[in-house]
Amino acid sequence: MQKAVEMSRSEGHAAGADLQSRVLLEGVSKSYGEEWERQDVIVDLTAEITPGELTVIVGPSGCGKTTLVNLIAGFETPDKGRILLNGEPVTGPGHDRMVVFQETALIPWQTTYENVVFGPKLRGDLSGKELQDEAERLLNKVGLREFMHKYPLQLSGGMQRRAELARALINQPKLMIMDEPFRGLDAMSRGLMQEFFLRLFEENRRTNLFVTSEIDEAIFLADRLILLANRPSFVRKVIDVKLPRPRHYSMLSSPEAYAYKREAMAILHEEAMKNFKSTATSKDFIDAYSKRAD
Ligand SMILES: Nc1ncnc2c1ncn2[C@@H]1O[C@H](COP(=O)(O)OP(=O)(O)OP(=O)(O)O)[C@@H](O)[C@H]1O
Ligand SMILES: [Mg+2]
Repeated sequence: MQKAVEMSRSEGHAAGADLQSRVLLEGVSKSYGEEWERQDVIVDLTAEITPGELTVIVGPSGCGKTTLVNLIAGFETPDKGRILLNGEPVTGPGHDRMVVFQETALIPWQTTYENVVFGPKLRGDLSGKELQDEAERLLNKVGLREFMHKYPLQLSGGMQRRAELARALINQPKLMIMDEPFRGLDAMSRGLMQEFFLRLFEENRRTNLFVTSEIDEAIFLADRLILLANRPSFVRKVIDVKLPRPRHYSMLSSPEAYAYKREAMAILHEEAMKNFKSTATSKDFIDAYSKRAD
């Protein structure tokens, strides 16, 4: 019976246009610091996040991925260019865009359940029995029904990530933004979380932006890969990943996945080396290393 209710709800979602959104980034630039020490982080970045797709942004560590997330979420404003969400300029944060960051943002003194209901309760969107039912449905979906009265510190890393997913999903966002949400998890938990997250996405295709620096994770999840150049960031290459859905981890060892990986790795390696070569110490290292290789 519970299953039937869940099915009808998720089918309802799939039919609704409210889960679909299009984000256009047009010539976006962002720099930090005072004039004399200004650092360009993003320069003239143009990209599109398409409705119903899982767009994955990949780039070397420190290239500006979180900065880009903050711009799309409306926590920061671009110095130049504009960001449009379904045709409307992004002017600030809104619960139509939910972000799950790499560090846990669960409130430590609230239980899992209290964390999940916090946003809608504060805004008065849902209340009473309706709110309780929806929170319990989502906690069930992410496998945390039995842990709803535990505090974040009593949950494993993987459980905390799932609690954050439930906390974001209860807001019915038009766009889910995930910024390296599985970073720091051990390899086994990370793999399981990727599969779990894929099932959630494939169920109703809520428009999703996922940021990572792990190329296997990127290919496993993505409909489209956006590869960023190293600082300053701009779009270096877009790759459409045409692996079938539903995805299974075994697909990562297919020749098609390998070809995507080779293409992406060549670009990312080039980008990573760009910065590495520009420091004196690394030049010494490369010289010494190439002499040793002779
Ligand atoms: N609020 C800020 N003030 C000053 N500099 C900042 C700010 N936010 C980011 N930066 C700088 O912008 C650059 C890009 O940072 P960002 O966090 O966006 O990179 P990232 O790609 O997310 O890195 P990581 O892979 O480590 O998460 C860094 O050099 C960082 O120091
Ligand atoms: Mg980051």
